Amino acid sequence: MNIQAYPKVELHHHLDCSLSYKVVHAIDPTVTEEIYHRDFTGPVKCTNLVDFLGRTFRGIALMQTPEHLRMVVDDVMGQLKRDNVLYAELRFAPLLHTQQGMSPEEVVEVVNEALTNAISTTGVEARLILCTLRHFDADESMHTVRLVEQFQGTNVVGLDIAGDEAGYPLDEHIAAFEYAADQGIFRTAHAGEARGAESVWETLEYLQPTRIGHGARSIEDPALIEKLREEQIHLELCPASNLQTNMYDTYIDHPINRLYQHGVSMSVNTDNRTITPVTLKQEYEHLHQHFQWGKEHFLQCNLHALRSSFLPEETRNTLV
Ligand code: HPA
Ligand code: ZN
Repeated sequence: MNIQAYPKVELHHHLDCSLSYKVVHAIDPTVTEEIYHRDFTGPVKCTNLVDFLGRTFRGIALMQTPEHLRMVVDDVMGQLKRDNVLYAELRFAPLLHTQQGMSPEEVVEVVNEALTNAISTTGVEARLILCTLRHFDADESMHTVRLVEQFQGTNVVGLDIAGDEAGYPLDEHIAAFEYAADQGIFRTAHAGEARGAESVWETLEYLQPTRIGHGARSIEDPALIEKLREEQIHLELCPASNLQTNMYDTYIDHPINRLYQHGVSMSVNTDNRTITPVTLKQEYEHLHQHFQWGKEHFLQCNLHALRSSFLPEETRNTLV
């Protein structure tokens, strides 16, 4: 099987955590390859998610002007093309890109326009998900969902919450997610990564997303697995990232294969390509090597991903 040529769908990809060395060096020529591997790329094992999240700031600091945002979008779309990704949903938190004076609105406008251009030059279909973060307050979360609302009809298709799952509860974000639901805005949420199944239950109850970012630890509760399967709640799984955040010791400890066998709707994703230096091709190779996954597994994950994507149904069908 030629995994490189295999068509792929990626739903869980952080735009601001996927800068190649090439674009980092183009934006900041003082960053050598050695510095990139020391400061931008994470170690094989971080202590935990917070340690991992601490490594996101260097990349975000390089995405504070329209020109630099455009360069990163082009760079990431080039990476996706080389990985033979047909369709991707790229996420980022607009409120983190205002350090040099851009407004969050301008940030979304620039990224949206850059993405439209990159879609036509690469042929890779892509959309945007705007993230609020666990440590944000209720106003910041509401500002983020208002941005999704304001940019409806462009490449912006949904809302996510990322960040420190174990350090901050959901309280500040419930109103924003309720507002999103009322507006018919698609929702995903990181959960079941730094905390267990109870966090996924909580997230489903209070935020009502149709997808969960990671959610790997759902495997710890059979009743939750049943709910995910029955309601076709989709898990955006990112095994290499989970090894790096120290959720699991080795690849075969990851529950992805067990989740697959339980019939849960799921996809394979990189999460990010800087801190966890991994491509989807490599992730598929890991799955082939450790769990003997073949074409039928990848096809099923990609069909599940398209079915759970935030595209309108007619557009989705043109990609199948
Ligand atoms: N979890 C939470 N927040 C994040 C992640 C993640 O895996 N990656 C980037 N931001
Ligand atoms: Zn993530």
